[in-house]
Amino acid sequence: MKNYRNVTEDIFWIGASDTRLSRFENIFPIPRGVSYNSYAVIDEKICLFDTADVSVADQYIENLQALLGDRTPDYQVILHMEPDHCSQIARVAGMYPDMTLVGSAQAFKFLHQFFPELDDMKKQIVKEGDSLSTGHHEFSFVAAPMVHWPEVLFAYDKESGALFSADAFGTFGAIETGLFADEYDFEKEFLDDARRYYANIVGKFGGQVQLVLKKAAGLDIKYICPLHGPVWRKDISWFIDKYQKWSSYEAETDDILLVYGSLYGHTASAARKVAEEIAATGARVSVYDVSGTHLSVLIGEAWRCRRIVIISPTYNGGIYIPVRDLIEDMAALGLKNRKFFLGQNGTWAPMSGKLMAEKLTALAGCTVSDNILTITSALHDEDEAAVKAFAAEVAGA
Ligand SMILES: Cc1cc2nc3c(=O)[nH]c(=O)nc-3n(C[C@H](O)[C@H](O)[C@H](O)COP(=O)(O)O)c2cc1C
Ligand SMILES: [Fe+2]
Ligand SMILES: [Fe+2]
Repeated sequence: MKNYRNVTEDIFWIGASDTRLSRFENIFPIPRGVSYNSYAVIDEKICLFDTADVSVADQYIENLQALLGDRTPDYQVILHMEPDHCSQIARVAGMYPDMTLVGSAQAFKFLHQFFPELDDMKKQIVKEGDSLSTGHHEFSFVAAPMVHWPEVLFAYDKESGALFSADAFGTFGAIETGLFADEYDFEKEFLDDARRYYANIVGKFGGQVQLVLKKAAGLDIKYICPLHGPVWRKDISWFIDKYQKWSSYEAETDDILLVYGSLYGHTASAARKVAEEIAATGARVSVYDVSGTHLSVLIGEAWRCRRIVIISPTYNGGIYIPVRDLIEDMAALGLKNRKFFLGQNGTWAPMSGKLMAEKLTALAGCTVSDNILTITSALHDEDEAAVKAFAAEVAGA
């Protein structure tokens, strides 16, 4: 049964989706699954772009064989050597030992590290500016270093306007119905996952993404074919604009993110009161308990929101551990240009506010308000003025 899809008349999607895996990279929850996209071009020469993850290997090989029948591919292009896309290279090479592997010099170094048994395959090293002709199509390679591996290449085909963008423009979420983004309500069904994917996996490399977006601006892109998630053929500039914002660390909305930690519920009650007061001003605030929310979701939200409120208990003289982990993750991923507002709880010596401020002021382009809201054990009637003033400052910032 044919399970591959047409991207154009002669460019095919031969990927597969996995909804059994619970965590991508063994870190990020993917309750809606993930797709591993691979593409095949059936031209005078047959060219494959990447393979797929081992978890979908059988479906991937079935799609490849269904499309090719008794034809054999001439080229297997490797856009990057991460195992979620290259796990099947040895298997495909075993099926078609005469094909030529095409990739960057560094991709071949990694190929040797992962698959020394493929050392004798025919190889074609390509770099930015080089191209690969299959007949009607000519794929020119664009270097995308550190988006998000060092050896990444994009491939652009002038004839169809298709940009094979490796992991860029990818998203979590299985391809269950249509192949194309416009066959879904992408903003409702995928945008949060696309942002979460970007922020957590590519977020640290905004500068490199900016560079490759500048190169892409010179191309007439009609399709974006990423390695995960739907293919783009409409409203491409809308999605590129999201990437512009995310990679320049510019908030996507004016919404406020409020994250709190709480062992026994008192800091939670205080945080809800703060959120209620902020919302009463008409501002939109999204509230999360750090312990009940995966860090990757909070990182995605931090990329979306311009103002971030963090309220943490003091814990053994430090920051409550899951809040500390969030702040460390924000720092590790290089979040920039946010306004932070901090609250602390403590029963004998509250100090989490000061400690959080020390870490957050070190983030480029970030400001931390001096006005730290302090709760001693629980919220009291006499805290009302301070809560209102804190909320007003957040809402007005
Ligand atoms: C294991 C543990 C360690 C704590 N360490 C401190 C501390 O070092 N300094 C402090 O002022 N309060 C400390 N607290 C008190 C908490 O900061 C907080 O006041 C209390 O947990 C009530 O808030 P909650 O209901 O939101 O958890 C500690 C509490 C626990 C359970
Ligand atoms: Fe990757
Ligand atoms: Fe990937």
